[in-house]
Amino acid sequence: MPRMQDRVVFVTGAARGQGRAHAVRVAKEGADVIGVDICEDIKTNGYSMATPEDLDETARQVRDAGGRMLSVRADVRDRQAVIDAVQRGVGEFGRLDGVVAQAGICPLGTDDPHAFMDAFTVDFVGVVNAVEAALPHLSEGASIVATGSLAALLPGATDNPANGAGGLGYSLAKRMIGSFINDLAVVLGPKGIRANAVHPTNCNTEMLNSDIMYRIFRPDLDAPTREDALAAFPAMTGMGVPFVEPEDVADMVLFLLSDESRYVTGMQMRVDAGGYVRSRPQQPTF
Ligand SMILES: NC(=O)c1ccc[n+]([C@@H]2O[C@H](COP(=O)([O-])OP(=O)(O)OC[C@H]3O[C@@H](n4cnc5c(N)ncnc54)[C@H](O)[C@@H]3O)[C@@H](O)[C@H]2O)c1
Repeated sequence: MPRMQDRVVFVTGAARGQGRAHAVRVAKEGADVIGVDICEDIKTNGYSMATPEDLDETARQVRDAGGRMLSVRADVRDRQAVIDAVQRGVGEFGRLDGVVAQAGICPLGTDDPHAFMDAFTVDFVGVVNAVEAALPHLSEGASIVATGSLAALLPGATDNPANGAGGLGYSLAKRMIGSFINDLAVVLGPKGIRANAVHPTNCNTEMLNSDIMYRIFRPDLDAPTREDALAAFPAMTGMGVPFVEPEDVADMVLFLLSDESRYVTGMQMRVDAGGYVRSRPQQPTF
């Protein structure tokens, strides 16, 4: 029996990268998808966002996997647009069982204060908006997953002021996702609805494969290439690998959405190849 048979999952940031992997993975397991993406650039972010063609490609891959996908271009900062997208999807598919709130930006390398605000509003307020839009349609057995970040859990990584204002906004947002998910799990537990966070280490997507990121990982070089960065990427893992693949994160997301995790809630699930335990502050957290 497919693990998501006849279910409907709402994914933000669905046009490419991890969002696409999550959409396709759940479709392979029998789900239909409501896929939202901004599909246009955000000025303060030093690498491009997805394109409308990327979103079409996700929909094509979802179809090939046996699912249906409603594609909506919307900015997760625009709460009404997100509410409208979810309502359209529920109207079309008849129900909502899962949320993957994972649209995100990482505007490192600039001191523009707007980068701080953009990172925080996309990466945190965008998650709140996705949950808010979904809540009226969720019932017992439903599952919410939000994407945090290993780098944000490690003091001195993305929150290092040397990485710019956007990094501070990113870290703040991603850490607040952790707290938000803990409290959401408490609030929704009595209704039988679960909430968990996923914290990836470096993931092999366009966010990581960008000139901005290469410069962050290789501050010793003027114009580092991907090859230069590849030598430094393993510092964020404990298993010697430079990154995980989007599909590795999708496997965790699928687990958290499916009934296999029916009593797993309020968890901070790291898909980080051992990156956190290797670099964590020795006290007092586990
Ligand atoms: N790639 C990494 O190394 C890494 C590591 C840890 C956490 N993450 C997190 O994983 C999530 C997915 O990122 P990814 O790695 O797939 O990168 P990505 O840049 O390929 O994908 C992000 C997607 O979100 C969309 N998006 C951005 N802002 C949006 C907005 N305001 N409204 C709607 N859609 C928007 C983009 O268009 C893009 O399709 C992000 O939350 C990111 O912070 C990534």
